[in-house]
Amino acid sequence: MNSAQWFERAKQVIPGGVNSPVRAFNGVGGTPVYFKSGKGAKVQTEDGTELVDFCGSWGPLILGHARDEVVEAVAKAAADGLSFGANTAKEAEFAELICTLVPEIEMVRLVSSGTEAVMTAIRLARGYTGRNKILKFDGCYHGHTDYMLVASGSGLLTGGISSSAGVSPAATAEVFVAPYNDLAAVQEILKTSGHEIAAVIVEPIAGNMGLVEPAAGFLEGLRAATAECGALLIFDEVINGFRLGPTTFGHMCGIKADITTLGKIIGGGMPIGAIGGSTKIMSCLSPLGPVYQAGTLSGNPVAVAAGMKTIELLRDENPYPCMAELGKQLAEGINRIAAEKGLDLHCARRDGMFTPFFRKAPVRNLADAKACDTKAHARYFHHMLDAGFYTPPSAFEVAFISAAHTEEHIDAFLEAFGKM
Ligand SMILES: Cc1ncc(COP(=O)(O)O)c(C=O)c1O
Repeated sequence: MNSAQWFERAKQVIPGGVNSPVRAFNGVGGTPVYFKSGKGAKVQTEDGTELVDFCGSWGPLILGHARDEVVEAVAKAAADGLSFGANTAKEAEFAELICTLVPEIEMVRLVSSGTEAVMTAIRLARGYTGRNKILKFDGCYHGHTDYMLVASGSGLLTGGISSSAGVSPAATAEVFVAPYNDLAAVQEILKTSGHEIAAVIVEPIAGNMGLVEPAAGFLEGLRAATAECGALLIFDEVINGFRLGPTTFGHMCGIKADITTLGKIIGGGMPIGAIGGSTKIMSCLSPLGPVYQAGTLSGNPVAVAAGMKTIELLRDENPYPCMAELGKQLAEGINRIAAEKGLDLHCARRDGMFTPFFRKAPVRNLADAKACDTKAHARYFHHMLDAGFYTPPSAFEVAFISAAHTEEHIDAFLEAFGKM
């Protein structure tokens, strides 16, 4: 059976045939690809094709698919027991490792997904401050809890509106939404409502409207403004964490968030999430404090084994300069070819993360990202897929270069792109 046949079969028993909506290819059209196996930078599909993967499971696979040492760690952990719902030594060691590599994190609680990490971070911020309201940014994604599925409403100073059916307006009314990179908008909201706001949550480098970097002074401004009004600053580093170095982006740029959320890479491909912060704030979590949080599979030994081995390899092998160099070659190549061909696009890049935006003008926020030509992106996606390269099947996502990619992969990608 090929991908099309599997998709038809899956649609009978799984809503839309998928377990996460972006996999349905609605953003690019066509039939979703069914993956069979992966090794290093490549995946094999149910269609009998081989693809160079620049999606990396949306971020976790920074070492590439099925890295031997990670698979061995998982196999050993699985053989020792899949889950205990009780404490293991590995959890303590993993928490120590995270706290050592991210000195701003003095304590860390493990959960099972990025969504759950953010959910806990928000509750923790509310419990710690005794306030209810939250400020987030349009275009930043923080998982699918009710109060994070919110888009900007009629005005800056009113709460947002839900971006999904089934979300109670009461949940989103407590959430202000500002344009990303717009510090003046944040300051305006904080001026009137700062005393009610528990936390400002942001992806320090945005990755869910395509790759959008923080403007100079934006994160520093958030830090100062939140400190002034007594709100906590949450850096959602589910994508950023361990992506640019063996630590958080917050640590690398010297801006100390009050709470950091992690996921993706710290699970090495297994389901995980984490919330970290100072001992003072983290002590509010139960059983030490009054903010409840729990999980049958939290700190699952197999996930911890995969995450710990991944982080150790990143720390010991430091593939970051190499991934950054490959990212540079790729983005510069795309921009050069686009200029030669007169294509209306530019490639945003930060180290090994990149997004080809189908417009020339820079993208600083969601409004800019939405102004891109999504049809041109869909043509690019399918052209590259036909040529053997899997990129994110949405114009509003970031692509990843892993430690398993080589110059040959980048050269081949550019050669194929040049034929678009
Ligand atoms: C920044 C950010 N936060 C949170 C999440 C939610 O993580 P998960 O999909 O593991 O629930 C994502 C997922 O893409 C994300 O990019």
